Amino acid sequence: MKISSHAVARMVGTWQEGPGPAHQRLSDRLRLLILDGRLSLGAALPSERDLATALGISRTTAGAAYRTLVEHGYLATRARARATVRLPHDTPSERPAGTDPSTIDLSFAAPPAPVEILHAAFAAALEQLPRHFERHGYDRCGTAELREAVADWYRRRGLSTAPDHIMITNGAQHALGLLARTLLSPRDTVLIDHPTYPHAIRAFTGARARLLPVAVGTSGWDIAQLHEAGRTAQLAYLITDFHNPTGMCMSASERRRLRPACPTVIDETMTELALDGATPEPFAVHVPTAISVGSVSKSVWGGLRIGWIRAAPALLDRLEQARPATDLGTPVVEQLATAVLLNERRTAGPDTLRHLRSQRDALSQALTEHLPDVHAPRPAGGVSLWASFPEPISSRLAAIAPDYGVTIAAGPRFGVGGAFERHVRLPYTLPSGQLTEAISRLARARRALARGATGTHTPAPVA
Ligand SMILES: Cc1ncc(COP(=O)(O)O)c(C=O)c1O
Repeated sequence: MKISSHAVARMVGTWQEGPGPAHQRLSDRLRLLILDGRLSLGAALPSERDLATALGISRTTAGAAYRTLVEHGYLATRARARATVRLPHDTPSERPAGTDPSTIDLSFAAPPAPVEILHAAFAAALEQLPRHFERHGYDRCGTAELREAVADWYRRRGLSTAPDHIMITNGAQHALGLLARTLLSPRDTVLIDHPTYPHAIRAFTGARARLLPVAVGTSGWDIAQLHEAGRTAQLAYLITDFHNPTGMCMSASERRRLRPACPTVIDETMTELALDGATPEPFAVHVPTAISVGSVSKSVWGGLRIGWIRAAPALLDRLEQARPATDLGTPVVEQLATAVLLNERRTAGPDTLRHLRSQRDALSQALTEHLPDVHAPRPAGGVSLWASFPEPISSRLAAIAPDYGVTIAAGPRFGVGGAFERHVRLPYTLPSGQLTEAISRLARARRALARGATGTHTPAPVA
């Protein structure tokens, strides 16, 4: 895949800040983009001349940056061809982050399974399974039991919903990919929150859409700006409920005012993780045409791989037609178990919420103790804090942190154009003791960076 000079210029962002010669800073920034997966393996970079023009620097500087990357094994060159991205696998420190079992993994923001609850749900599901044996078991929309249970979950929250408004998917990410492939054409524009969930970015760019980011700040959503941007977009994707990564929840008054001009996908993956107040109202109560995406990955367990789309039956028909290109349906046992969990109101149980609350508080406390100049507002729900550092070190910190026994997801993975170099998402889904230890390790990694150390770890996957 060829990457244009303008795309590289957007990704490197504010590379000119910082000490050292310009070619060194540029090669460092490109190396971090490669390690972070934002410049993917095999991608063909622009020529030195084009890159120099796009960045407004001399060709000598661009050439020197590329040469450093070639020398360290991050670029492969051939005569009369563009340099392509590679990784120097022969270097011992070039192992993926998080492969050492003593490493604390802060790159995943997902709770562990509620063992007994899940066990009981699967036992009940196995009893019901024989009912399905007479049929083939492939159902593009999902089992009747689960579609009704999800519809009822919406009705209980004040949104009239019938089973034929529901399609069951293999998790929310599958739902986003299916919606992106079905609703978008190349060069369409998708309005996104900024920052947002990294795999949603990938689903939309994978459908060759362009992204139109609208900032979500510590004071919430800018409704006027969303309206303005919605007029030029073909689709909007918003995480209104305990947003990943910031934890923000759209207020009732913002929900009442927001009327997007384009079709809007609302990601309700975190809805049930209200830690300090009530579960928010479904967005479609206010905007009946909203396409809602849900999942039990955070309210029960990611390993279930069960999600859904709530939409008008006509749209679900289109999705049903498109689905077999990539998969033929969702496993029946998991659907039956999820229906039991929803019907018995055992999703996001009191123990899950209690643990998340005390872990969130332990994480905040550890930050105050070990990283007192890092600002991390305490969210009212969800699974993560969005921590902001005074200095733009996020990608470098992610690349060195595994040397200190912790993995993190760097801020720029949650945005476009190299934004969020001062931010790190810190999930509170691990036990409090591990969170405290992780933050003390992160503080050590940060001190090492300040002394001039560099890391070379490729990032662990984010969820
Ligand atoms: C906002 C958001 N949407 C979607 C997903 C994907 O969820 P699932 O595991 O159901 O595919 C996640 C998972 O982290 C998420 O945080």
